[in-house]
Amino acid sequence: MRRLIRGTRLVLATHNKGKLQEIAALLAPHEVAVVSAGALGLDEPEEDAPDFTGNARIKALAATEASGLIALADDSGFCVAGLGGAPGVHSARWAGPTKDFVGAMARVEGELADDADRRAWFAAALCLAWPDGETATFFGRVEGSMVWPPRGKRGFGYDPVFLPAGGRLTFGEMAPEAKEAISHRARAFAQLRAACLT
Ligand code: IMP
Repeated sequence: MRRLIRGTRLVLATHNKGKLQEIAALLAPHEVAVVSAGALGLDEPEEDAPDFTGNARIKALAATEASGLIALADDSGFCVAGLGGAPGVHSARWAGPTKDFVGAMARVEGELADDADRRAWFAAALCLAWPDGETATFFGRVEGSMVWPPRGKRGFGYDPVFLPAGGRLTFGEMAPEAKEAISHRARAFAQLRAACLT
């Protein structure tokens, strides 16, 4: 697989400042710099693939085509077994335009029947795309269960209702470093690092 040589500058296919900072920090030790799609004024493509890998690919290919730079995109979400994997790729959309994750967590709970399968997982896909159209995708997942009511004020999104397997604290209660050690995004990034960074 192609590697990202030191000194590469890539475009990160996100308009989200938090993601930009998080991924820039992971790449910095490998001397890979990032610029955001937002800073370059690139449009956000429609994320209409049925899975995380497909959506990450759509975003990465759109960003490399528009910028001529190597692009990196991520797509992630929260999945519940008793809901057939929902909200899944629609995780952000369930929170609506006001990003109401308290409401989104309540909707997940409300849609689960009393005896539903509460196993849950977070999933993350990362996709690197080169200007000639080559892509490389990486996937990470962390298993656990959906708890109710929400617990903890740390993290973001669905963190307060996710209890990782074998743990006592939800992602909303855990220290950020503890979450980072097992998170879906960290697992996907570890694969990318092994395959493509020097
Ligand atoms: P994306 O920006 O399209 O990838 O949307 C990802 C959505 O999934 C976010 O808005 C969150 O709701 C949810 N999500 C992804 N990763 C996490 C996480 O680590 N904790 C909590 N929620 C997450």
